[in-house]
Amino acid sequence: MTNGRHILVFPEPADVARKAAELFCDIGRGAVVNRRCFNVCLAGGSTPKAAYTLLAEEYGNSLFWELVNVFFGDERNVPPDHADSNYRMAREAFLDRLPFATGRIHRIPAELGAEKAAQDYEAVLRRELGEKEARFDLVLLGIGNDGHTASLFPYTKLLHIDDNPCAAEYVESVHSERISLTFPILNSARHIVVLATGEGKTEILKTVFSSAEDVERYPVQGLKPADGQVTWLIDKAAAGRLFESGIGLDVITAEDPGGKTALEREN
Ligand code: 6PG
Repeated sequence: MTNGRHILVFPEPADVARKAAELFCDIGRGAVVNRRCFNVCLAGGSTPKAAYTLLAEEYGNSLFWELVNVFFGDERNVPPDHADSNYRMAREAFLDRLPFATGRIHRIPAELGAEKAAQDYEAVLRRELGEKEARFDLVLLGIGNDGHTASLFPYTKLLHIDDNPCAAEYVESVHSERISLTFPILNSARHIVVLATGEGKTEILKTVFSSAEDVERYPVQGLKPADGQVTWLIDKAAAGRLFESGIGLDVITAEDPGGKTALEREN
C-alpha cells in the first residue's frame, strides 16, 4: 500500500466485480456485527453494474440485507426511471433483486430539481447517519476520464464545500446539473473502494497516480479518508501503463482464487 491507497490489479473486469462483491459483503458483515447495520454509498456510472449484478445473483445468503442502508454518491438531474439515472441502474441490477428493507434505500430525489434534491438529501444524510458522526461503512466510487469521482468534477465549486454533505452544481463538461456528496462525508468513510476497468481508464489512472496532487484538476485525488485507505480495484486493461510506472501495485493473478492480495496471501 502506498500513499494511503491500495491498488489491486485483476486479470479481467469480472475479477474486479467479484472482488468488489466480496469486499462489499466482508465490510457489510463487519458493520452489522459491530453496529447492527451497514451504511453503504453506491457508485453510479456503468462500471459498478457488474458487481451489483453479481451481488444480486450470487450473494443473497452472504449478508443480512434487511440491515443494509443504501445511499448514493451522486445523481444526474433526471427522474428515477430515466435511462441515465444512477438509482435506476442500481435498482434494476441489484436493489430490486435482494430483500432490502423498506425505507432503507435512500435515493437522491433528482426529480425535485438539483438544488432541492441536494437540500433534501442533506437532511436524509443527517437524519440517517447522524449530525456529527456521519460516516459510511463503505463508499463505492468510479473515476471519469477527466479524473472526476461521484459528481465532483474538475474546477467546480463542489470540490471546496466543507460544511455540507451534499450539494448541486451545473457542470459545464456534462452540460447538466449534478447532485453529489462532497469530500467531507466521502472522506469520513471507513472504507472507500474505487472501481475502474477497461483501457479507456489507462490514461487517467496513470495521470492520477503519478502526477503531483492537484485536486482541482483531478478531483479523485481528493479521496483521502481520515482514518482509512482507498482501495482501487482495476483490471489489467485499465492498469495498462501503470506497470512501467514504478507505482506500487498489488497484482492479483488468475491463480489467486478470489483475488487475494499479497498481504492476504502471506497470512
Ligand atoms: C456518474 C458517476 C461517475 C462515474 C464515473 C465513471 O454519475 O457517472 O457517479 O462518477 O463513477 O463517471 O463512470 P463509468 O463507470 O461509466 O466509467
